[in-house]
Amino acid sequence: MNSETDGSVKQKLIIFDTTLRDGEQSPGATLNIQEKLEIARQLSRLGVDVCEAGFPIASPGDFEAVRRIAQEIGTLTEGRKDGQPMTIAGLARAKEEDISRAFEAVKVAPRHRIHTFLATSDIHLKYKLKIDREECIEQTIKAVRYAKSLCDDVEFSPEDAGRSDPEFLTVVLAEAIKAGATTLNIPDTVGYTTPEEFGGLIKYLIEKTPGSDKVIWSTHCHNDLGLATANTLAGVTNGARQVEVTINGIGERAGNTSLEEVIMTVHTRPKNFAVYSDIDTTQITRTSRMVSAYTGMSVQPNKAIVGANAFAHEAGIHQDGMLKHHSTYEIMRPEMVGLAASSLVLGKHSGRHALRARLIELGYNNLSEEELNKAFNRFKRIADKKKAITDADLEAIITDEFYQPKEIWKLNDIHVSCGDHVKATATVTLTGPDGVEITDAAHGTGPVDAVYKAINRIVNEPNTLTEFLVQAVTEGIDAIGEVTVRIQPQEKEGDGYVTNPQTGTQMARTYSGHGASTDIIVASGRAYMSALNKMLSERAERMAK
Ligand code: KIV
Ligand code: ZN
Repeated sequence: MNSETDGSVKQKLIIFDTTLRDGEQSPGATLNIQEKLEIARQLSRLGVDVCEAGFPIASPGDFEAVRRIAQEIGTLTEGRKDGQPMTIAGLARAKEEDISRAFEAVKVAPRHRIHTFLATSDIHLKYKLKIDREECIEQTIKAVRYAKSLCDDVEFSPEDAGRSDPEFLTVVLAEAIKAGATTLNIPDTVGYTTPEEFGGLIKYLIEKTPGSDKVIWSTHCHNDLGLATANTLAGVTNGARQVEVTINGIGERAGNTSLEEVIMTVHTRPKNFAVYSDIDTTQITRTSRMVSAYTGMSVQPNKAIVGANAFAHEAGIHQDGMLKHHSTYEIMRPEMVGLAASSLVLGKHSGRHALRARLIELGYNNLSEEELNKAFNRFKRIADKKKAITDADLEAIITDEFYQPKEIWKLNDIHVSCGDHVKATATVTLTGPDGVEITDAAHGTGPVDAVYKAINRIVNEPNTLTEFLVQAVTEGIDAIGEVTVRIQPQEKEGDGYVTNPQTGTQMARTYSGHGASTDIIVASGRAYMSALNKMLSERAERMAK
């Protein structure tokens, strides 16, 4: 796995994406099977080497999602630089039942991996696992051996390695190698280390662990101190050849290392790293957008690489420099990450051809005729209200049209009356799962509240609205507004919850929805319907099992 680019021989950096496992552990990022499949398909296009598809023992739904990803996505090779499909990994605690379940879920993929983990820090051993170091070594050997009896490709992670005794780690890791582990992943589970420390830890472990040359060393950093990317890169500098990352850096608490930051650093500063990756960087923006839409986790505007402002040059002096030569203030070209720079602005006279051409430039090169028609109809409706349709508007249209759950209830019409001296009233018309159209009305504290109450009267699915966010896609009074909402069902039974593999705690399921329109009341209604449909279709899937 060597490549010669700028004169020096480089080793391949294996990109292990855990958006669908650690990323999905972020509060409120619950994804349904269809969304997981779509994201996995996009990760394959992006060129990810290993896709950690989930934690199969968590629930039948999680198992099924991992199994279907292994079956349907684990064979795809289209657009992949190495011509090989992704390896599909399943997470398992160091327990036989977890490992068996993970294996059952991933085994259909031609390339599959079991990823098992056990904490090694004294804090975790004492307070969480209530075992001593001896027992920790025993459990590691047993788990890795068992995983190896099922599968050749076994990854072991000493959880909370960042706060573990390095000498003890070398003992545990040497045993994991002897038991058959092929990848050793070093997690900074609580994002505690600094780059010097983490890089030093990787170097020390590679030097001191007997048999270290037989395995791939990997990093897994959390971002609690905002150091995840720096720590990961320090790990790479010190010999790690796999990085565990997520799209947009989503994950537990402050998140995981962001894939796009690591990739674009290695890409932009090749002389600083002895590695290359097989990632197709032009797919980054599209992947980011998809993950943000499906998880309901918006990307902060100033986020490196994928934030809305990452390539915007606001200050006059910068704009002046950019006009003279882009290199004055730009270290990466936007098109490298799939943001095609174009002066072409679409409007109401633009035809299907122009729309298709622009969408292809934006990375949507595999829309079917039917999808293109839908996008075009929507585009025309918006172009009637808004003079110039920018790339950001198009992205919002595509997200709103295509990144939506199965429509169990369909929103047909919203009418509101509100103002300073009147009670806000909304009338909504929905079509139900049986095809029957129902209209109802409600008062509210404002127009959005009234719309939500009217919808609730029809759908009758008690839930709590935990988040409501409105953002303008572009500037100007005619801007498209994008609304994101999160709801939690009022289910009493365990099914309303998901288990966190590390803490074992139960988290209430949260469903996000998004909608876009030039009218923010309509966008709000669409977002709420999207979250409700997601909740209902996921429940129907669970019931069907
Ligand atoms: O952060 C962590 O320690 C993990 C492990 C399960 C690898 O996510
Ligand atoms: Zn983690």
